[in-house]
Amino acid sequence: MQRIVVRSSSGSYAVVSGSGALGRLGELLSRLRDVSDVFVLSSPRVWGKCGASIEKVLAARGRERRRAILFDDAESAKNIRSVETVARGLARAGADRRCVIVAVGGGVVGDVGGFVAATYLRGVRLVHVPTTLVAQVDSAIGGKTGVNLPEGKNLVGAFYPPEFVVADPALLGTLPDRQFRSGLYEVVKYGVIGDAALFSYLERNMAKVLRRDGAAMRWIIARCVRAKASIVTKDERESGLRQILNFGHTLGHAIETATRYRKLLHGEAVGWGMIGATLLSYATDRLSFGEAQRIIRVVRGVGKLPEIGEISAARLMQLTRGDKKSRGGRARWVLARDIGDVAWGVDVPDALVLSVIRAMPEIAGLARGRG
Ligand SMILES: NC(=O)c1ccc[n+]([C@@H]2O[C@H](COP(=O)([O-])OP(=O)(O)OC[C@H]3O[C@@H](n4cnc5c(N)ncnc54)[C@H](O)[C@@H]3O)[C@@H](O)[C@H]2O)c1
Ligand SMILES: [Zn+2]
Repeated sequence: MQRIVVRSSSGSYAVVSGSGALGRLGELLSRLRDVSDVFVLSSPRVWGKCGASIEKVLAARGRERRRAILFDDAESAKNIRSVETVARGLARAGADRRCVIVAVGGGVVGDVGGFVAATYLRGVRLVHVPTTLVAQVDSAIGGKTGVNLPEGKNLVGAFYPPEFVVADPALLGTLPDRQFRSGLYEVVKYGVIGDAALFSYLERNMAKVLRRDGAAMRWIIARCVRAKASIVTKDERESGLRQILNFGHTLGHAIETATRYRKLLHGEAVGWGMIGATLLSYATDRLSFGEAQRIIRVVRGVGKLPEIGEISAARLMQLTRGDKKSRGGRARWVLARDIGDVAWGVDVPDALVLSVIRAMPEIAGLARGRG
């Protein structure tokens, strides 16, 4: 188990991760002062899988009233309507300013639950209990919350740090294979943006990781949590360094928007986005051919990505301009200079972006069914 402290403008918070972390949830909650009620926000699916173990930990503590509010955690339901549903659930249950929201789930539950916590009564306390790999290594850390609009990903949101995060890999046991792989794309991202040792570990041990070998999982999760905590501590509001976390996300978000958040999982869209960003890095002479090949090989090693050939390249490029990070209608790319080193805020000519988008399916070897 490791305890990492993240500093934010509204105070520090701990990320407790590793085997046995869930056992600390009750004790950490009881350290919060003046709590009226604890509201667990989750989805029917997650609660069906993880509810019993969470309940067990919470029951052991049990002073105040506890309620669970469940909502649909499909990516296509990560929207303002879900925020309203949850907030109304809180209002009807009489939630006051002293309540604590415990978001139990993947990135969707965390992002929606976090945004509700940030805005309900202008802010109530928030705890994250991430139950997917994406959430444990990424979305539960760093204080970003928010929802999608039909016009684009995460366009409405707030920075809202939690009181603490409890990330226990035991909760990942029930995660379906596709969801697990989706999280691995974010793990690959951490390797490319700043951790060459993690990247080569993935090159050497992908089979073990895909089997969810306990020691391998502990090693990679601990590494990613440390990386994320360190990046967001240095740049909470994404004025600089934090942008590197967006490697693969400029195109990834465009793909999610173009497919109306239905066809691909977030990590899969990022997998495609990393292939695109790697090709752009090579085409703009930042990255050597050999290193570009290594990145694409590892991305492909995670699994077969859903096909995206039917999305028009022009549409995708247009969507990259509407990304949150774009400036003056131009997308700002995160491109690799080496494995473990990226540049951010890069402007790339449209013609190059278009040709890379067109080449992506071929390069990934999917067009010919080579998987
Ligand atoms: N806030 C951030 O900094 C940040 C960072 C990365 C990603 N995100 C967001 O996170 C979202 C993706 O999150 P995700 O990949 O965790 O997906 P998710 O929240 O959609 O969960 C994936 C699926 O797995 C199910 N599930 C969750 N935990 C389970 C478990 N333990 N056992 C069985 N099933 C389980 C869920 O019900 C859901 O169907 C995206 O919306 C993305 O934009 C946010
Ligand atoms: Zn992501």
